[in-house]
Amino acid sequence: MDGFGIRIEGLSKRYGEGDTAVDALKDVNMTVAPGEVVGLIGPSGSGKSTLLKCLGAVIEPTTGKMTLGDEVIYDNGWRIPDLRALRRDRIGFVFQAPYLIPFLDVIDNVALLPMLAGQPNGESRKRALELLEALDVGHRAKAQPSQLSGGEQQRVAIARALANQPPVILADEPTAPLDSERALSVVRILNQMAQQFNTAIIVVTHDEKIIPTFKRIYHIRDGKTFEEKGLAQN
Ligand SMILES: Nc1ncnc2c1ncn2[C@@H]1O[C@H](COP(=O)(O)OP(=O)(O)OP(=O)(O)O)[C@@H](O)[C@H]1O
Ligand SMILES: [Mg+2]
Repeated sequence: MDGFGIRIEGLSKRYGEGDTAVDALKDVNMTVAPGEVVGLIGPSGSGKSTLLKCLGAVIEPTTGKMTLGDEVIYDNGWRIPDLRALRRDRIGFVFQAPYLIPFLDVIDNVALLPMLAGQPNGESRKRALELLEALDVGHRAKAQPSQLSGGEQQRVAIARALANQPPVILADEPTAPLDSERALSVVRILNQMAQQFNTAIIVVTHDEKIIPTFKRIYHIRDGKTFEEKGLAQN
């Protein structure tokens, strides 16, 4: 699999208009290669979640350009007709809170999206179980989300984000509620998944525990990005 990289060029996002307008993104430039995990760091209100939402086609940018693989998805306007299909098939989201569906067991939380996308149920569940096992929560497949610890729930949420094998994963503070050991294991898993599936991953974080694990970091400040080489060795 070739995988898809991410390229963002001169992206801006203005919320609202007139006196109350907020320029959340002013000039964002970022590239992520297939198989690469980059960190995105910046103070509260600097535009991190806004950037992930633009890239995930949850909100529309104001200007600029975004490319996935060799396909331009946004160039001063959306360039693809079906944004729902983009979100469903090509982007995996991991949030700070796992947002699991409380009345489905763990395995169906992970298998739901592939089933909705038309995969046979048996196959979706088989793949869901493989992912859960890879994330060390396979033994909890039949439990309800409320019966899991915070770290287990977060690993289930990562399995769910990977279930469609999206070429892009966007993680917004995925380790915030976790202790050191669990936080580092989540990062290790994201790195493994990036390599195994050639996924391009952006991890938004304030978490001092995981910042040293990135090979490349983007800082965002006042809506603008700056690149830095991370502490981790290649
Ligand atoms: N829907 C919205 N309407 C208007 N302004 C918004 C909206 N969402 C975010 N903003 C503003 O855009 C700026 C960037 O917000 P964003 O949520 O991207 O920050 P963040 O870097 O994710 O912060 P945090 O670390 O606190 O999550 C902030 O000034 C915020 O108040
Ligand atoms: Mg945020």
